[in-house]
Amino acid sequence: MPKVIFQNHPYTEKERIEPFLITKKEVVPFIFPNPKDARMDYSDISYMYLSTNEITCSYYEISPGSWVEIPDYHPGDEVYIVLEGTLTMLNTEAGQVVQVHEGECLLMPEGAKHCGFNFEQKKVRTMSFIAPKIFTEAGFPTDEIGRHKVYNGKLKPEEFRKYTWCETKNRAGVLDDLGAWPADGPESRKSPFFHFVPEDKKLLAIHGLDNPVLMKVSVSNDYLNVVELVIPSGGKGARMTDPDQHPNEAFLYMDKGVISVLIHDTGETFQIREREGLYIPKGMTYQLFNYESETMNVFLCTKCL
Ligand SMILES: [Fe+2]
Repeated sequence: MPKVIFQNHPYTEKERIEPFLITKKEVVPFIFPNPKDARMDYSDISYMYLSTNEITCSYYEISPGSWVEIPDYHPGDEVYIVLEGTLTMLNTEAGQVVQVHEGECLLMPEGAKHCGFNFEQKKVRTMSFIAPKIFTEAGFPTDEIGRHKVYNGKLKPEEFRKYTWCETKNRAGVLDDLGAWPADGPESRKSPFFHFVPEDKKLLAIHGLDNPVLMKVSVSNDYLNVVELVIPSGGKGARMTDPDQHPNEAFLYMDKGVISVLIHDTGETFQIREREGLYIPKGMTYQLFNYESETMNVFLCTKCL
């Protein structure tokens, strides 16, 4: 089994100019945190799909009753989408706790210190999208080990830090919010808070005129976009999207089902199956087809829509 090389996975010496399917062979498990840095009894099992200089897309699981000791943080924004279970996230610097349920999203702006717990009797399965970079040259952060702002019965109100809250948007989103959802990127990074995006706070938009599909935007800022395309079956033939392209690298992920992807530039057809991904180089035009008999939910991560 190959090793994960962060910011170059799957490993290549060449420029990435061709699309490729990320099947189970390319998905590499790794234990987080790094075994030499921290206690292994508090770890999770992660699976790396794609890691470039623009985006890192991985999947992880926390078993019932487990938690990840090391407070993690990144030189980029990190977005979680919980696929199954309830993930309890602690912001170790702010003492902020958020429960993220199946289908919900959490945005952790650049530098926000985070660690995850599973207090349920069901496995937590989560996708993680990070942009632009997962780590600095120093690798996994270890300077925060053991530092958690938690209730210990000794907290004094006068010692509580007063935060300035950044804008919370309670209104439904509009298309013009693309690029600043759930908050403006640079503004959100001025404070250490997580931004919670439950199902009813996702920015909804219609994607495509000829072949409209529902687009659920969890996060859209200057670092990354994490979007779910909801593609029903039926309709006129196989239900499909309009052709789309992005100025940056893109990653598509299927948790369940199968989606067919036509790459217009090369004429190739890829099928992304359960827990597989597809890498699409910058600028390539692709179109998604649902030939199945049920709705397909496709996750997309890219810097610019
Ligand atoms: Fe992280």
